Amino acid sequence: MARTNNKAGATRKLFVTEYHKYRDHLLRLDAENRRLRFGMIAGDEFILEYAKRLADMKSIVYGHIIGGEVRGAAELRPLGRHVHGEAEAAFSVEKEFQDAGIGTQLLGRVVRAARNRSISRVYMNCLAENRKMQAIAKKFDAVLQFDQGDVVGKVAPASAHSFSLWREAVEDEMGFVMAMLDLQRRILPAA
Ligand SMILES: CC(C)(COP(=O)(O)OP(=O)(O)OC[C@H]1O[C@@H](n2cnc3c(N)ncnc32)[C@H](O)[C@@H]1OP(=O)(O)O)[C@@H](O)C(=O)NCCC(=O)NCCS
Repeated sequence: MARTNNKAGATRKLFVTEYHKYRDHLLRLDAENRRLRFGMIAGDEFILEYAKRLADMKSIVYGHIIGGEVRGAAELRPLGRHVHGEAEAAFSVEKEFQDAGIGTQLLGRVVRAARNRSISRVYMNCLAENRKMQAIAKKFDAVLQFDQGDVVGKVAPASAHSFSLWREAVEDEMGFVMAMLDLQRRILPAA
């Protein structure tokens, strides 16, 4: 399949008010990619319910946005009540946009976000057949363990450093500006 130029888009954190874009991205996944993402068959109803609960899950959601639409996304969800400790991560990239480095970029952001929050371990559950996700996890020195037909990838982020904190803060500021521009683009044609 042709590689999409992922430089055409930008990866940034999504605001809660943009979660509908994440929901629409999940709804655009085909049946096979939904199965790989959720580890089971996931119909529209399931995704709509999932999206409704997102704001309560205390997740950090990154989106890879191209032309105002979320085409790839990553969720970092704390395990337990606190943002420190351990967390799990899940990824999705729409089929036409796969194999262009977006998944790798998203995992990089997730690992850094975990690092900056003193999260000691990030778990990624994927089906054993999901070689692509496993290949990406290995780029971040993940330990892969087989567990009842699934593979659990474990990444231990390094300790936070002033540079990693600074990078995230700068990107958040840029992300805010981009979100405002996206909003303006949405509102202006309607005015
Ligand atoms: C897994 C997923 C997020 C990857 O996103 P992506 O943008 O295509 O990933 P990237 O382009 O960054 O990297 C893909 C890597 O896998 C490698 N790869 C592709 N097919 C492979 C295969 N069959 N076996 C091993 N490695 C493979 C590619 O070569 C590439 O590595 P490289 O950059 O070193 O060449 C995407 O395929 C997806 O959304 N899948 C469905 C949902 C899912 O599986 N989620 C993960 C479980 S939570």
